Amino acid sequence: MAAKWLKDTVFYEIYPQSFLDTNGDGIGDFEGIISKLDYIRDLGCNALWINPCFDSPFKDAGYDVRDYKKVAPRYGTNEDLYRLFRIAHEKGIRVLLDLVPGHTSEEHPWFQASGKAEKNEYSGRYIWTDHWFLGCRKLPYIGGECERPGTYILNFFKCQPALNYGFHTVEENWQMREDHPDAIATREAMKDVMRFWLSHGCDGFRVDMAASLVKYDDEKKSGTSAVWRNVREMLDREFPDAALVAEWNEAKLALRCGFDMDFFLNDGVNGYHTLVRDYEGSDIDNSFFKKDAPNRDIRRFLRTYEDWYTDTKDCGYISLLTCNHDTVRPRYSLTPDELKLFYGFLFTMPGVPFLYYGDEIGMRYLPLPIKEGGYFRTGSRSPMQWSEGKNLGFSEGDPQSLYLPVDSAEDAPTVSQQVNDPASLLSTVRDLLALRHKEEDLQADADFEAVSVLPGRPFIYRRGALLVAINPGSEPLSCRADLSGRQCIYAIGSAPVLSGDTLTLAPQSFCVLR
Ligand code: NOJ
Repeated sequence: MAAKWLKDTVFYEIYPQSFLDTNGDGIGDFEGIISKLDYIRDLGCNALWINPCFDSPFKDAGYDVRDYKKVAPRYGTNEDLYRLFRIAHEKGIRVLLDLVPGHTSEEHPWFQASGKAEKNEYSGRYIWTDHWFLGCRKLPYIGGECERPGTYILNFFKCQPALNYGFHTVEENWQMREDHPDAIATREAMKDVMRFWLSHGCDGFRVDMAASLVKYDDEKKSGTSAVWRNVREMLDREFPDAALVAEWNEAKLALRCGFDMDFFLNDGVNGYHTLVRDYEGSDIDNSFFKKDAPNRDIRRFLRTYEDWYTDTKDCGYISLLTCNHDTVRPRYSLTPDELKLFYGFLFTMPGVPFLYYGDEIGMRYLPLPIKEGGYFRTGSRSPMQWSEGKNLGFSEGDPQSLYLPVDSAEDAPTVSQQVNDPASLLSTVRDLLALRHKEEDLQADADFEAVSVLPGRPFIYRRGALLVAINPGSEPLSCRADLSGRQCIYAIGSAPVLSGDTLTLAPQSFCVLR
């Protein structure tokens, strides 16, 4: 069962590099996050996910960890992070750190030791073949870097050697089984990292590439799932309130091996893309929230979502997200008015939603040069736009020194423009989150049932005793619905018309009916 506090939680994801720089060095820091906790709370978010903020050579933006227990000096000190936990808790905000259990940086001392020719405590911490230049048939490998006469397996980039959790199916002599003492030692080392941060006040972890641990796993990921079940047993005993969200994108598996939440990621397959950017079989964007989409169809999203939801609703939560540091911002394809409806949907669905910093003001996806292994992802990692001031309020530093340039468009959205404008996207997000916190039926647990899904009708779903109805298009839409005794308690766009058993929604509108 998921941690109880998740019932009414909305996460705010912070890419620490780009949130707020308080010492003028051009890069965000913990002090910046601390100083914006009131902003985050007032927006309606009551939990954070902070991307990796640990010591790292930053060849993959910090997903290449060099020291799991030390924060990167560019963000502050460990004490600053402990203080962040404390102050956040005083404000009712929980904090998840990013755990990267599948790989380290090639500069991690474990790896340095593992690559030595003489056998030592860390020889089996990574996955080494038994030949100085031959690799593995199915997994990427590197040779020629270390004195040890073997090649080693990678988990992602070249700088990220895979940690050894063993193989579920062993095919070659050098492959260790998943119950090999060295594989168990890796798992225990990761539990030790988790204990370290949890005992300093963090509330849990977003788990990077959670499905990647045991190699040659079966379809059900039995090997990797067993690792997570073991981790969960430790958490249940020692930190029963800790929450884990998986980067797995297979809720049916992740929510059954100890994760409280699993992301519904934009993988181009499960249907998330059909909400925001859908060119499937067409030159025209047919995404559900695009005003002029000729062939929108919410069933393309519901196909996977309902299947996962029905199967997992008693095990944990599916997390829908505005986007994340790996994906293109939704503003890339949706206008601010379209975004309002998309967020209306996202924040009234079951599970635990995640808002990526800046999406609340409609920050753009920018064409930026690659930074820290970001490739196309860099465009979603630009500095937060706080105000009209220097560097849009992100930093007092020289513009040339910034981690990434700020949006230079004249109409770059900012918090200060939107915060007091009741019609702004930011205000809509704030109103939606306030409504979610007020209405238990809009929170994580209340039942979800799709009521009207056919193209050409409003999309209507039931949450507990409430109905939510959406018309993203440019024409009014009507349909029959059980409206007896119902009234509208919240609307985006023009209010709906309820007449007898007919519900009519104005173009580009959203409403919640009680
Ligand atoms: C997923 C993370 O979200 C991404 O940013 C990173 O590059 C890879 N995992 C490798 O850790």
